[in-house]
Amino acid sequence: MEIMPLNEALIPQAAALERACFSLPWSENALLSELSNENALYLAAAEGETLLGYVGSEISFEEADMMNLAVLPDCRRQGIAQALVGALETALAGRGVGKLTLEVRASNTPARALYEKLGYVLIARRPGYYLRPREDAVLYRKELRA
Ligand SMILES: CC(C)(COP(=O)(O)OP(=O)(O)OC[C@H]1O[C@@H](n2cnc3c(N)ncnc32)[C@H](O)[C@@H]1OP(=O)(O)O)[C@@H](O)C(=O)NCCC(=O)NCCS
Repeated sequence: MEIMPLNEALIPQAAALERACFSLPWSENALLSELSNENALYLAAAEGETLLGYVGSEISFEEADMMNLAVLPDCRRQGIAQALVGALETALAGRGVGKLTLEVRASNTPARALYEKLGYVLIARRPGYYLRPREDAVLYRKELRA
């Protein structure tokens, strides 16, 4: 497995993974436009030409938000998300980002366990933030080392 910047050839697979994972998935066009957004940083985990997972972030000066994170259902619990988030943290820190924030559905136990394992700290809860189904968001943050 290789971790690399998400590229145009992998976008259809990323959009399919979005549809498989989320009730309000990002479209191919939305993902594509992120590739030309200089404040966005997207990484892919791939085996040959097969996308196994990806993670995206938006940078705003010294802070960044993690936007999407997904791993193919058949490839979970192999450390792929952990590797993606670790590579994202390193890349963001290299660009001068000191804080990475993310929000996740309160009921998303796998994702919350991952973030807590990686040292993210729970900072807030936003009641009723998500739709389809309506649900609270919980916010996590991690200070990144330069
Ligand atoms: C959340 C998700 C990205 C995790 O991907 P993954 O590649 O399976 O995660 P990893 O194998 O790197 O797991 C790392 C750690 O996270 C935790 N974790 C991951 N999945 C878990 C699960 N199903 N149950 C409990 N803990 C879990 C564990 O601590 C795990 O370490 P361990 O395997 O040594 O116990 C994946 O389940 C996914 O794509 N879910 C659907 C999309 C989603 O919910 N994205 C997050 C939106 S914010």
